Amino acid sequence: MMGHDPTRLEMFLTRLAFLLYGKPIYKAFADRLPLHGGERVLDFGCGMGTVAYYAAGPLPHGQLTCLDISGRWLNACRRTLRGYRNIIFLHLEAPALPPDSFDVIFCHFVLHDISASELERVVPALAKSLKTGGALVLREPLEEMEKLSAIKRLTEQSGLVLKDSRIIDVSLMGNTLESVYTKATEVSS
Ligand SMILES: C[S@@+](CC[C@H](N)C(=O)[O-])C[C@H]1O[C@@H](n2cnc3c(N)ncnc32)[C@H](O)[C@@H]1O
Repeated sequence: MMGHDPTRLEMFLTRLAFLLYGKPIYKAFADRLPLHGGERVLDFGCGMGTVAYYAAGPLPHGQLTCLDISGRWLNACRRTLRGYRNIIFLHLEAPALPPDSFDVIFCHFVLHDISASELERVVPALAKSLKTGGALVLREPLEEMEKLSAIKRLTEQSGLVLKDSRIIDVSLMGNTLESVYTKATEVSS
């Protein structure tokens, strides 16, 4: 999956944003995740672990799975989270995820980057790996209107229900759409 690896410049700029804006960008999002301490959580497209860094602490009895299609990002994520023991690192693609496994799945600036045809596989796979009653939390740039509509259509077709949605102006990133979907019933295969 080397074709998905970032350049050194991209990694440097992301680390810089994390160091300078970690709290207003990534911690603010992590603080809004519906976590009580014992959940099994998936960070889909974790990158260098910008959000995971702030989500791991509030999970003292839970488990955070950091998944990325890029081995280079996943290695960077391992370094960011080296102080935590409650993390699993996964280098695989969404369709390989086990069903009914997570209480919370979050995607932070990931889905808008995925092609429309790939989203048709990724979103149903995420919905399937969510437990009944679980939550899918997304934050994507508002300007990606076409992708946002496709994501909404696919989540709802996959049996998820939109519970909350708001526009938030984020430092460096501009207006973003944050959406929370829940899984009310089993998703048929
Ligand atoms: C813009 S970065 C965001 C990283 C992190 N969530 C953040 O906000 O800092 C997008 C990430 O999604 C990953 N990604 C893209 N397509 C993916 C896929 N199909 N499956 C898993 N990860 C993917 C990329 O490798 C990259 O790490």
